[in-house]
Amino acid sequence: MVCLGNICRSPLAEGIMKQKLLKAGIAADVDSAGLLDFHSGSLPDKRSIATASKYGIDLTGQRARCITKDDFKKFDYIFAMDKKNYENLMEYAGHGEESRINLIMEFAGLGKKEVPDPYYGSTSDFENVYHLLDDACQRIVDKIKITTHLNLV
Ligand code: 4NP
Repeated sequence: MVCLGNICRSPLAEGIMKQKLLKAGIAADVDSAGLLDFHSGSLPDKRSIATASKYGIDLTGQRARCITKDDFKKFDYIFAMDKKNYENLMEYAGHGEESRINLIMEFAGLGKKEVPDPYYGSTSDFENVYHLLDDACQRIVDKIKITTHLNLV
């Protein structure tokens, strides 16, 4: 899960996705990172922590980090929160790694929509981000379940 600062959107995406995979009984390595190094080592934004906490998700174990070249090899799916993140990831990816990069809402079947940056916004912007990501992550987990099933039969 990748956004700009790795303190607002992608920590929420990481927390939501981990909770949904756990519920679905699917084992997967989920992590988040930012394109900026500015907030490295920081806790998620307190508004993200508070929003997640409302829905029973604890983000306080997370610390911001910057994406690395290794992430493009380690992770099968890299989800960008917005189009700018997507473009930056595409520029940074190594040869043949571009196919791993997806705009999260689009991959979830929700169109070329973005998860808007709530950093300069209000509590309701964080709430909106939560609901967009909750919907997207649920659809992605359902998609994984179907793909896994098809691979088995
Ligand atoms: P995020 O939000 O990309 O969702 O973590 C932001 C956090 C920090 C900044 C921008 C966006 N910033 O400019 O410091």
